[in-house]
Amino acid sequence: MSTEEGWTKEQLVERIRAKYKGEGLNPDTFMTGLLWSKPISYWDYINLDALLSLQVPRTIFPDEHVFIMYHQINELIFKMILHEIEQVAEHEGLDVAFFKSRVGRIARYFDMLVSSFSIMQHGMDIDQYMRYRNSLAPASGFQSAQYRLIELCSTDIENLIDNRFRKDYSEDWSYEDCFDKIYWQAAGVDHKTGEKSYTLEDFESKYMDRFIETAARYEDRNLYALYHKLDEEASGDEELRQVMRHLDYTVNIKWVMAHYSAARHYLNSGNTKAQATGGSEWEKYMLPRYQKRIFFPSLWTEAEIATWGVAAEEALEGG
Ligand code: HEM
Repeated sequence: MSTEEGWTKEQLVERIRAKYKGEGLNPDTFMTGLLWSKPISYWDYINLDALLSLQVPRTIFPDEHVFIMYHQINELIFKMILHEIEQVAEHEGLDVAFFKSRVGRIARYFDMLVSSFSIMQHGMDIDQYMRYRNSLAPASGFQSAQYRLIELCSTDIENLIDNRFRKDYSEDWSYEDCFDKIYWQAAGVDHKTGEKSYTLEDFESKYMDRFIETAARYEDRNLYALYHKLDEEASGDEELRQVMRHLDYTVNIKWVMAHYSAARHYLNSGNTKAQATGGSEWEKYMLPRYQKRIFFPSLWTEAEIATWGVAAEEALEGG
């Protein structure tokens, strides 16, 4: 009888022995260990107890659970996205078929993040949110490092420079210069004094080294750079072009607008507009029209870039 791989049982045992020997280990020890090993369970395999012990609210409000868990789900999905990007970046002999399949996966993860954002907008009582949010300050989703890593691995750093300074970008800029002008500084720097907010300082002191390291590692292997490397084969592939455009639009318009809409739902619910926990001038800062974050600019026409996010904003105002 043969095994799933098509080997005889003897061949299978021989292969296992050869594997351990090849690693300089004694196969008999491992074969004996197998004899006494316990079968694995679902809960151990996915580390369920650890996962379900990570929800620790800071207040008495039940809806804070929704907020914490939904953020955790987002971070897990961000991790899945980074995992796919890594697969593409590390793939030897990358071809259009593999690239397209992985970009398609990433796009589906973002589709899910967009369609589920209504859990934030409609899934918590405004009263509860406006009370428990005070105990979160000065933390903010702004400090999600994985979100920034996704951006750094998706496009050239030039495309993440604050839209107001992007035209001044030069390849001579060091990574420090780039991060000094990166778009998110606008949410954390006081324009009059030039001082950084605590939220931004804290974020940068924890993650800046990792961001610089990632920007350097992905300089020639981010999704946009790899798309160019695949060049002729890729640019002739209309399906790939559409998947890339879908991803760009989903991240940089749809997700951003779903997020903005949820923020507005809560923060503008009172008589006065509430301050963001991260302290930004969030209403202006969050809109795609101002930030013009675009991962794959060569896939859009000049007119599409000029009106980036405008239709989505009008749809929100009209709806
Ligand atoms: C009721 C729900 C939410 C509200 C009211 C809200 C509000 C805000 C605001 C006002 C900002 C601007 C920065 C600041 O804090 O000053 C921000 C940034 C951010 N938030 Fe949220 N947020 C919500 C949910 C989420 C969720 C579920 C995520 C997913 C991880 C998230 C991720 C982010 C990210 C990545 C940024 C930075 C975006 C950028 O720089 O353009 N937020 N949020």
